[in-house]
Amino acid sequence: MSRTGTAHLALRSQGPATNHRSRGSAHNRSVVIDVHCHILPALDDGALDLDDSAAMAAQAAQDGIEVVCATPHIRSDHLVRVAELPSRRAALQRELERRGLDVQIARGAEIAQEKAAMLTDRELRELSLGGGGWVLIEPAPGPLGDDLCALVDGLRLRGARAVVAHPERHAAADFEDRLRELTARGALIQWTADFVARAAAGDLVLGYAGAGLVHLLGSDAHSSRTGRPLRLAAGVAKLRAVCSSAQIAWIAQEAPRAILDGVEALTPPW
Ligand SMILES: [Fe+2]
Repeated sequence: MSRTGTAHLALRSQGPATNHRSRGSAHNRSVVIDVHCHILPALDDGALDLDDSAAMAAQAAQDGIEVVCATPHIRSDHLVRVAELPSRRAALQRELERRGLDVQIARGAEIAQEKAAMLTDRELRELSLGGGGWVLIEPAPGPLGDDLCALVDGLRLRGARAVVAHPERHAAADFEDRLRELTARGALIQWTADFVARAAAGDLVLGYAGAGLVHLLGSDAHSSRTGRPLRLAAGVAKLRAVCSSAQIAWIAQEAPRAILDGVEALTPPW
């Protein structure tokens, strides 16, 4: 991403709490972005406290991730106030800068399927990834269904685009058809990076990747102390066995950047 692009992203993400640290030679290189992460402290089931958030950011930096979308659950079992999110992101950003961690926190949320229709257009925009209009949707428990497709259509009519989170938790007999159906409606499919990283040769996810049904990877990290690490690189490396270099570039860099930049018509180029 160009320096101009980075500044644009920062403006959308943080308002007054932009990251002023020098990015050195960033002018001509791509930015690595995690579009799914529960890095805000003491809010949902993610980071336990500020130290945990900072340790997650350190994991991100170690993995080469420069921008982390903070995507707390918007779900009935978590009390997340949309209006508080800008100040919570800004506070974390300040703390990361104080600790010398060069990781930028961007806007986002993981919106439960059943909650999305209850949000106002303004809330949807506030909760979208980078503020660009793409919203991360957590499918309802169980197989991917017609109601998720209907939601994708409904969001589009409201000017929003859907990223479908962790489909691997919702596999059923018609799984591949459902993924294709969602893709045909303009949704992008975000798989969990650690799940992909752990795939063995012949696992279905690698077949889906080869078939073009892996569009994004997200860490979905919740803590530095337990569960999945905040990393993407190992998942991307696993995809190299089944995807072309052009596909890898789109999944790992071009698509996340376009999402945060608010590109509306974003279709996998395959
Ligand atoms: Fe998540």
